[in-house]
Amino acid sequence: MSNIKNIKNIKNMVVLGAQWGDEGKGKIVDFLTDKFDAVVRFQGGHNAGHTLVIGNKTTKLHLIPSGVLHPEIFNIIGNGVVLSPLALVDEIAGLEKEGVDVLSHLRISESCPLILPVHVALDHAREIKRGASKIGTTGRGIGPAYEDKVARRAIRALDLKNPGLFKNKLMELMDYHNFVLKNYFAQPEISVQEQYDAVMKAAEKFKHNLIDTTAFLYDLKAAGKSILFEGAQGALLDIDHGTYPYVTSSNTTAGGVATGSGMGPLNLEYVLAVSKAYTTRVGAGPFPTELFDDLGETIRAKGHEYGTTTGRPRRCGWLDLVALKRSIQLSSISGLVLTKLDVLDGLSTVKLCVGYELDGKIIHTVPADLDQFSQCKPVYETYPGWDKTEGVIALSELNQNALAYIKAIEKHVGVSVDIVSTGQERNQNIVLKEF
Ligand code: GDP
Ligand code: IMO
Ligand code: MG
Repeated sequence: MSNIKNIKNIKNMVVLGAQWGDEGKGKIVDFLTDKFDAVVRFQGGHNAGHTLVIGNKTTKLHLIPSGVLHPEIFNIIGNGVVLSPLALVDEIAGLEKEGVDVLSHLRISESCPLILPVHVALDHAREIKRGASKIGTTGRGIGPAYEDKVARRAIRALDLKNPGLFKNKLMELMDYHNFVLKNYFAQPEISVQEQYDAVMKAAEKFKHNLIDTTAFLYDLKAAGKSILFEGAQGALLDIDHGTYPYVTSSNTTAGGVATGSGMGPLNLEYVLAVSKAYTTRVGAGPFPTELFDDLGETIRAKGHEYGTTTGRPRRCGWLDLVALKRSIQLSSISGLVLTKLDVLDGLSTVKLCVGYELDGKIIHTVPADLDQFSQCKPVYETYPGWDKTEGVIALSELNQNALAYIKAIEKHVGVSVDIVSTGQERNQNIVLKEF
């Protein structure tokens, strides 16, 4: 941390989640946005829930990039996002009610595959069918929409501009999905006409915002503008690299930025990964450092660890540095943001997981085999706790034990902590590296 570098000339930055989501990405993107001209979402959909707190006002975002409260910048939904027209219109309406001008600065990729009501029905039907082994999805239709994309039958945002074509594609798609819903899942069929009416009505609100966002991004680049790419979910939920099958259906790691925006990888100059000072997970799947005792409950209560999208209680545990190290490799992370340090205030000791014990051996990698991962027992290092970090914004005022904890994290993962977040509010940060 002594190596505080000035990297003010960076144009394009990526902010990603390094854990299982909800790391505080929204807060950090909003905080950094005044240094950028555009914020781009490149994967996921309205399964994301990003909470921004400015003064005493809280804003919850799902699909719209977390730069939206800065009126002068562009908010871009890239081609890698699965777009629910109904959710988008709801979110725009909610923001407009609060006086936020959304549409004039919003650009949406014409190539986004659509999430339709049938995808939501399929998401629920799948979870019911899986029974005890359900994923614990957000129920937003994310998985089924991405399935349609890779099966090359998705209806895309640009199809909304041609109602006749949209109707034909919808009829064809529903022929297939209604067969599956009725005959495989024993669930009610979904009306083509009702979906058509609802989606076309919603599209009226944003169809003029549909553009070739890749070309738009290159125009911004040519004009010398700077771009921040905002990840949703986290590295351990990545479809290829996460704890499969307990993952989401997109690439949440840095590779997803290029495919989901059309900006090639050499445009991405700095990758900032956000991690809590502990770990949370919402939904099913292995979680070696999960705390099942009172401490887990204390962290949940103090950190308000309830899902922004679904309200579900988040599972809580110690910071897992084995998993964090893997996330750092997966996205070639340049620096870390450590959030919610204040939630650990007042504990007599704090722990870091630095290895796993599996079958009597100590390992330092995340097994791909979920059965093995589920059997991993965390190996901890214990550090003295601290009284208070809440609201601290100057390094000189940071408690020495808290500083030692941060340094231990840096030492283990080999990457510096650039920002420490000490509260919900936009400006409650210790900035160790100037961007
Ligand atoms: P995201 O999905 O990564 O954007 O994270 P969420 O918004 O779903 O969850 C993070 C929660 O923690 C939100 O309620 C934030 O307001 C809150 N938060 C972010 N950073 C901090 C912090 O440093 N301290 C505390 N106490 N809360 C924080
Ligand atoms: P943000 O952007 C935390 C989880 C779900 C479930 C799995 C698959 O707020 O960090 P899905 O609906 O995507 O098919 O669900 O992924 N999940 C998240 N967990 N934060 C998120 O987003 C999440 N988005 C999806 O709980 O376990
Ligand atoms: Mg969230």
